[in-house]
Amino acid sequence: MIVLGIETSCDETGVGIYDSERGLVAHRLFSQVALHEPFGGVVPELASRDHIRKLLPLVEAALADAGLRGTSLTAVAYTAGPGLIGALLVGATLGVGLAMTWGVPAIPVHHMEAHLLAPMMENNAPEFPLIALLVSGGHTMLVDVRGVGDYRVLGETLDDAAGEAFDKTAKLLGLPYPGGPELAKLAEHGDTAKYRFPRPMMQRPGLDFSFSGLKTAVMLKVRELEANGSLGDSAGADAIRADLASSFQAAVVDTLVGKSLRALDQTGYQRLIVAGGVGANRSLRRQLESKLESRGGCVYYPGNEYCTDNGAMIAYAGLQSLKTGFPADQFPGDYTVHARARWELGQPLSA
Ligand code: KG4
Ligand code: ZN
Repeated sequence: MIVLGIETSCDETGVGIYDSERGLVAHRLFSQVALHEPFGGVVPELASRDHIRKLLPLVEAALADAGLRGTSLTAVAYTAGPGLIGALLVGATLGVGLAMTWGVPAIPVHHMEAHLLAPMMENNAPEFPLIALLVSGGHTMLVDVRGVGDYRVLGETLDDAAGEAFDKTAKLLGLPYPGGPELAKLAEHGDTAKYRFPRPMMQRPGLDFSFSGLKTAVMLKVRELEANGSLGDSAGADAIRADLASSFQAAVVDTLVGKSLRALDQTGYQRLIVAGGVGANRSLRRQLESKLESRGGCVYYPGNEYCTDNGAMIAYAGLQSLKTGFPADQFPGDYTVHARARWELGQPLSA
């Protein structure tokens, strides 16, 4: 089985081709970072228009890389949600159009399910059951994963996502766009204990998260430091920014690690997978690895390039969907274009 995957839910145009026997045979990605940089955030309409420009050439290039023709594919998988609706519609309409032309099924894929399954593309893929910590720019959730397609959301964020908190705090510290990775870099040089920011929701039972209060705490501290002149242009100000970044990152990481361990305790599982953009954070990885090791568990990640948005994970998720009996009512002959800005993980598309 060979599946073409298309990802256009946000600001990355991604295409991947996954072969059930040979693994990933093509992977192309175009990042729109430079396009959105002057605006300090993703501009949805610009994102849609750029996906239109880039997607078809990327599909053609991926097919050429793999030495395949469209008609040799088994299916076309595309991200159907959640995400920016205009951006999603570009990938969905092209994906369904190509599938129709080639006479193969078009498979709508849940973006977070694809993130969740991305570690399975690696050589040391974990077995089920496991807990998934999904941490991206739009989502923060803990999921009980008993198998492909068998997901129970145990907890999620009540307000900002972890990546969103990283991005907003980075902006507050005057860091360039995209802020999350920049803040993480700066945090490596700071003192994690210099400022004591709240560990939101840790005192409460349950597995939900909340990051907006933490962002506000950093903002208040920044204002205070600005007011007393500590955050001017001096060399000392750079050190303070690094301490702020480090103390903020420590608060997010402590919360993510604490709740992940709680989810493992609650279910009795020993395996944790971490996926989504924030999963690339080195401090988060270091802490999870040491905690899991000390309790005889193991933590798994996707390869570095497959942590953030990409087409390979969509192709892989589409393949799993085919293997586990892609809903018969959607094929043959169903070329409905599915695109949903909101779509809860584990819920059917039609719900
Ligand atoms: O999964 P992703 O590429 O896109 C979404 O589906 O949202 O995640 C992007 C998010 C952004 O918020 C970005 O700032 C964050 O992941 N991110 C990081 C790091 N690398 C990316 N956050 C913290 N540390 C990092 N190293
Ligand atoms: Zn994502």
